[in-house]
Amino acid sequence: MEKFVIHGGKPLHGEVTISGAKNAAVAIVAATILCDEPCVLENVPEISDITICMKILSSMGAKVKLEKRNVVSFDTRGITKPEVPYELARSMRASTYFLGTLLGRFHDALVAMPGGCDLGDRPIDQHLKAFASLGAKHELKNGQVHCYADELIGSQIYFDLNTVGGTINAIMASVKAKGMTIIENAAKEPHIVDLANFLNSMGADIRGAGTDVIKIRGVSYLKGITYGIIPDQIEAGTYMVAAAATKGDVIIKNVIPKHLESITAKLRKVGVTVIENDESVQVKVEGPLLKTSLKTMPHPGFPTDMQPQFSTMLTLAEGTSIITDDIFDNRFKYVSELRRMGADISVDGTVAVIQGKGSLQGAPVVATDLRAGAALIIAGLAAHGTTEVENIHFVERGYECIDKKLQGLGADIKRVIVPEIDHVRMSG
Ligand code: EPU
Repeated sequence: MEKFVIHGGKPLHGEVTISGAKNAAVAIVAATILCDEPCVLENVPEISDITICMKILSSMGAKVKLEKRNVVSFDTRGITKPEVPYELARSMRASTYFLGTLLGRFHDALVAMPGGCDLGDRPIDQHLKAFASLGAKHELKNGQVHCYADELIGSQIYFDLNTVGGTINAIMASVKAKGMTIIENAAKEPHIVDLANFLNSMGADIRGAGTDVIKIRGVSYLKGITYGIIPDQIEAGTYMVAAAATKGDVIIKNVIPKHLESITAKLRKVGVTVIENDESVQVKVEGPLLKTSLKTMPHPGFPTDMQPQFSTMLTLAEGTSIITDDIFDNRFKYVSELRRMGADISVDGTVAVIQGKGSLQGAPVVATDLRAGAALIIAGLAAHGTTEVENIHFVERGYECIDKKLQGLGADIKRVIVPEIDHVRMSG
């Protein structure tokens, strides 16, 4: 078990390069199951969620090879049994994507109910509804979902709510179905467009990704290609906010500024300078940080995956900020940890009220999920004194080499092994 030890209070300076997008990569790696030839993915982030996806593929008989750093080749033709090992599926939310891809290829899929970050109840009813529209049945047996169909027939899928995972699974299951599928009230996140671009480059016929109506004409064969995954908008946003919270000056490279618009707009609102270039953004702070209010929304609104980091920054601003995040039930779990660092935040259900106090002080804290962990690291970087962030395995699910990237920006952050005796104390 490891933790990060951060000596804070130093503005971040310099350049950082953003890795491939976690939420695009987990979908695209799972989608290699649909490819009828070997394919190669570039800009694959080196994070534990991707390691799990690759283990799932290998365990089912696929050949997965790291060609060089961030470049991985996949040959999934050897998969014969459409069943994801139970423990691997349970360790990650994105394992649900194997339901869509295995169903799309084999018309049969057996996958454990997913795990991942505990953000409250995360049902998959909309995914199952989409599969049912295509003609698949499902049953729940011993904690596993079994989906199966004689054949999948294109149909109309109407989502009752905006679901990223449901939209991705509906695309994957219908890309080789017979005839036309129309997905209405589809999610519009950049990773959905990236998945559609990947599948279209292989020969799929998907139109409208990035809008709320996606039309998919089923095809029977997908050819092998080499494809580069888009940069991670949330990793980029996290470094933007880290630069702002430490009152630094950072150039964030390998980004698509359009994907960062909602984050850029909010940072400008709180007095941060953001300069957009073609493939980079520069973030610097020259004056005080100002209060603001925000509500998380599906893309192109402000992303829930940036709420903990942004709220943390607002504890350093002047005045009262109000944050509403109702996309998941449980996205304010980091607040009690932040209070240990002197933050003044009260939470009532899905609304947090932050009384900005201008500073934080270092403390031992525990990450409760991926973005909570990122928020606590930002808090530690901005705080006076020493912060120890435990449970960093959550952070490693989605941030490639975060300690090394921050060290490159001048941060004093170290990875330290937690001695066995401390484990006992922590779990007692
Ligand atoms: N929902 C349902 N039924 C469903 C599906 C979703 O009720 O069948 C609800 C959820 O419980 C939630 C809302 O709909 O309240 C939105 O869920 P969505 O399906 O959009 O989320 P997801 O696919 O489970 C992905 C990302 C999350 C990100 C959300 C929202 C991946 C692997 N995960 O989750 O990323 O927060 O979309 O943008 O893409 C993260 O990266 O830290 C992370 C949690």
